[in-house]
Amino acid sequence: MTATNQYTDSPIAEDVYAGLTREPKRLPARLFYDAAGSALFEEITRLPEYYLTRTEAAILTANAHAICRRAGKNVTLIELAAGSAEKTRLLLAELLRRQLSVVYAPVDVSPAALSAAQATIAHSLPRVRVQPILSELADLAFLAKYGSPRLVLFIGSTIGNLEDDDAITLLRRLATQLGPDDRLLLGNDLVKDVSVLLPAYNDAQGVTARFNRNVLARINRELGGTFDPNEFTHVACWNAARSRIEMHLESRRDQTVHIHDLGLVLEFAAGERIHTENSYKYTRARISTILASAGFELEHTWSDEQGWYAVHLAHLR
Ligand code: AVJ
Repeated sequence: MTATNQYTDSPIAEDVYAGLTREPKRLPARLFYDAAGSALFEEITRLPEYYLTRTEAAILTANAHAICRRAGKNVTLIELAAGSAEKTRLLLAELLRRQLSVVYAPVDVSPAALSAAQATIAHSLPRVRVQPILSELADLAFLAKYGSPRLVLFIGSTIGNLEDDDAITLLRRLATQLGPDDRLLLGNDLVKDVSVLLPAYNDAQGVTARFNRNVLARINRELGGTFDPNEFTHVACWNAARSRIEMHLESRRDQTVHIHDLGLVLEFAAGERIHTENSYKYTRARISTILASAGFELEHTWSDEQGWYAVHLAHLR
């Protein structure tokens, strides 16, 4: 039992308490994705500066045939951190050209994202049997319910939110659930010029700033917080040494914030930051090292012409 349980049973209580009572303060990136945050992220994916989604979609479209051929016959599709499953439709459509029906299990922490995923797929691809799974990535036991061959998607550069150790732990856990006929399809962003990276996280319309600040509004809504989100500046910066974009919320002034449901009183100094996200950018070498450490072997990599983004197919070693 932690100190927070006497006040609330909110599912975000522990993350918020732990993150805001340490110095420097931080909040885990998964807290972005309440209904409002998931909608803002969808808006981000359509921004001109945010090249990730459309580049990955183009790679999947151009190579759907090759990906599905390598995945085998009568494949079940499982997608970790599915979100709205917008890009997955491209692969599902190709699978339906090769088999009569497809079982598709999107896994996500956001009920809103899961129902959005189900709605889009049911509407456009009725031969797909959608079986949504509300779950954290840490819990992969549900995989045992599905037979091989399984194609497990971990796309959208979601891996970029994780430290290498955590990514390896997750993929290793996945590897223990898979068999020799199963495949992992991993999509990740690549290292590139800062002039391309930075605007993607600091767009002209300020959607990413609203996405970042929404985590404070969420704490207000769900835990009785008194944050004024406008008293925090959105900061996105490139950490070259760690090869990651960082997002922070920087206090505009000295201020006191209460989080009533946690019994917390927080002091912020002017300029003090809450670290809200890391978004790692990889080289191909680093990805194959991560995969190898987790027990996978890289089978094939697809990329775009500019080499901005990569999609990898891997199987057990
Ligand atoms: C969903 C984790 C891939 O890191 O680019 C978008 C989230 N953060 N803009 C990313 C995000 C700021 C996104 N991922």
